[in-house]
Amino acid sequence: MRIAVMAGDGIGPEVTAEAVRVLEALALPELELVEAEVGGAAYKRHGHPLPEVTLEAARSSDAILFGAVGDPSCDALERRLRPEQAILGLRRELGLFANLRPAKVFPGLEGASALRPEIARAIDLLIVRELNGDVYFGDKGTRRLDDGRRQGWDLMSYAEDEVRRIAHVAFRAAQGRRRRLTSVDKANVLETSQLWRDVVCEVAADYPDVALEHLYVDNAAMQLVRDPGQFDVIVTGNLFGDILSDQASMCVGSIGLLASAALGERRTAHGAFGLYEPIHGSAPDIAGQNRANPMAAILSLAMLLRHSLGLEGEARRVEAAVARALGDGVRGADLGGSAGTRALGDAVLERL
Ligand code: NAD
Ligand code: IPM
Ligand code: MN
Repeated sequence: MRIAVMAGDGIGPEVTAEAVRVLEALALPELELVEAEVGGAAYKRHGHPLPEVTLEAARSSDAILFGAVGDPSCDALERRLRPEQAILGLRRELGLFANLRPAKVFPGLEGASALRPEIARAIDLLIVRELNGDVYFGDKGTRRLDDGRRQGWDLMSYAEDEVRRIAHVAFRAAQGRRRRLTSVDKANVLETSQLWRDVVCEVAADYPDVALEHLYVDNAAMQLVRDPGQFDVIVTGNLFGDILSDQASMCVGSIGLLASAALGERRTAHGAFGLYEPIHGSAPDIAGQNRANPMAAILSLAMLLRHSLGLEGEARRVEAAVARALGDGVRGADLGGSAGTRALGDAVLERL
């Protein structure tokens, strides 16, 4: 089993190092780790945020453990050279279209939520975010209008097969949970969303045991803070899913707690090929200060163990160690405590 480790920029290397320590502590037999550069770090050495050697490392692995990319010193580069193109390129090149972003409140952490504890307590939801389409990957550009004004534009679109395959992922996920699916769109305004809604309704015929509802994204954002306990599985497009998942993280307590898996069609010997990463970014404001919470990265490792290596028992051990550390009151600065990145990793390792 080969895992490509792509730590990236900012706090990416800091949080990924803690996830790798946890992985090494599991002492799995026949496991090979291969490091590969991505993002601003890769641009500075290879002139590209996603060099061919990195893509090759990805293709020859069973899974990717990804940190974060993004570097303010690269923000003025032309778009194709910016660090973020590394993660977008990996998702697209590897066909990783299904992004699973679970959000669940940890026992003892209800008080850390941005919501009142009695509201936060009920959070146990899964955001299924489409990852290969939408306004992210449409034609885009800037141009001069006839009257000389500058205009920026990005095409939003979904083809029906793209909606159908993510809908199947979401319905199946709901079948394994509480059998409720909320599809989030903006069908009252956008044609892209109307097609999305029509196709989700067609797919629903295959899943009579799942209760389907539709919400407009503005209402969904409101419901997510009013009563997040009402949600089981949420399925939505690339852009809305990006926004709602950051919002969900503060309902749980911190963006440093939410993990994700990006999956496609490719299979490995023991599961699905996938890319695993915290939902947060490179956090340049706290990078290099030992202040980043590595729990999201460690929980992403747990998802890797589960989905790509077929190691459900080990995945649960890691998740239980994180939950116990949090339950014991171990807190980083993001949760009002003082434990640094390394100390948080130590706390998880001790409980493992
Ligand atoms: P961010 O998620 O990096 O940070 C947002 C805020 O949350 C910051 O205040 C940061 O300090 C805090 N934060 C994030 N992760 C944390 C952690 N583990 N522990 C404690 N605090 C944490 O979002 P941003 O500031 O909008 O973006 C910074 C850069 O990261 C940008 O270049 C952006 O494009 C990139 N980004 C990359 C990814 C990715 O690699 N998948 C995801 C999101 C953003
Ligand atoms: C995420 C990030 C990325 C996204 C950026 C860095 C391209 O915000 O993984 O959530 O928008 O998908
Ligand atoms: Mn995001």
